[in-house]
Amino acid sequence: MKTLIIFYSRTGFTKEIAVHISEELDCDIEEIFDLKSRKGILSYIWSGMESAFRKTPEIKEIEVDPSDYELTIIGTPVWAGNMASPVRTYLSRNNDKLNRVAFFCTMGSRGSKRTFLEMERLSEFNPLACLALTNNEIKQEKHIKKVKEFIDKIKKNYKKI
Ligand SMILES: Cc1cc2nc3c(=O)[nH]c(=O)nc-3n(C[C@H](O)[C@H](O)[C@H](O)COP(=O)(O)O)c2cc1C
Repeated sequence: MKTLIIFYSRTGFTKEIAVHISEELDCDIEEIFDLKSRKGILSYIWSGMESAFRKTPEIKEIEVDPSDYELTIIGTPVWAGNMASPVRTYLSRNNDKLNRVAFFCTMGSRGSKRTFLEMERLSEFNPLACLALTNNEIKQEKHIKKVKEFIDKIKKNYKKI
């Protein structure tokens, strides 16, 4: 299946997983970029507020069209128990162009359940699979097995449709 990975990453964890999945699937990958800086403690607090209050900050336009792909895999860090606000912007602008979806998130420890529920609500799709990873799991390379299982589940559920 023709697959596109779309992700946002502030400190690199989500990017590491996005790149890993794209290498496993040999598929296209696009990063969501902010138009403003997210460095520093004030912007950390602001980012948490944006996510908690479901704001949609401006992002750099992504020219690749997800409707050209059978599957879009969307990756986000968990911010304040929700998807990162730039991912919300992307999803709210592109939900009508998605064909099938799968989601993954990275996090310090918790918040994946609500994050995936919100992504499901916003995309108006049941994801073929979801993958949640903590930063510790990634540091300890435990993600390798989980990514394989995620991909297997996507393939299995895609065939069922
Ligand atoms: C504003 C902000 C809020 C966060 N809120 C949570 C949270 O609610 N739960 C959690 O487990 N981790 C939280 N984190 C930690 C990130 O989810 C985690 O470090 C993630 O792997 C970062 O991904 P990235 O490196 O791709 O940016 C938060 C990080 C930021 C910057």
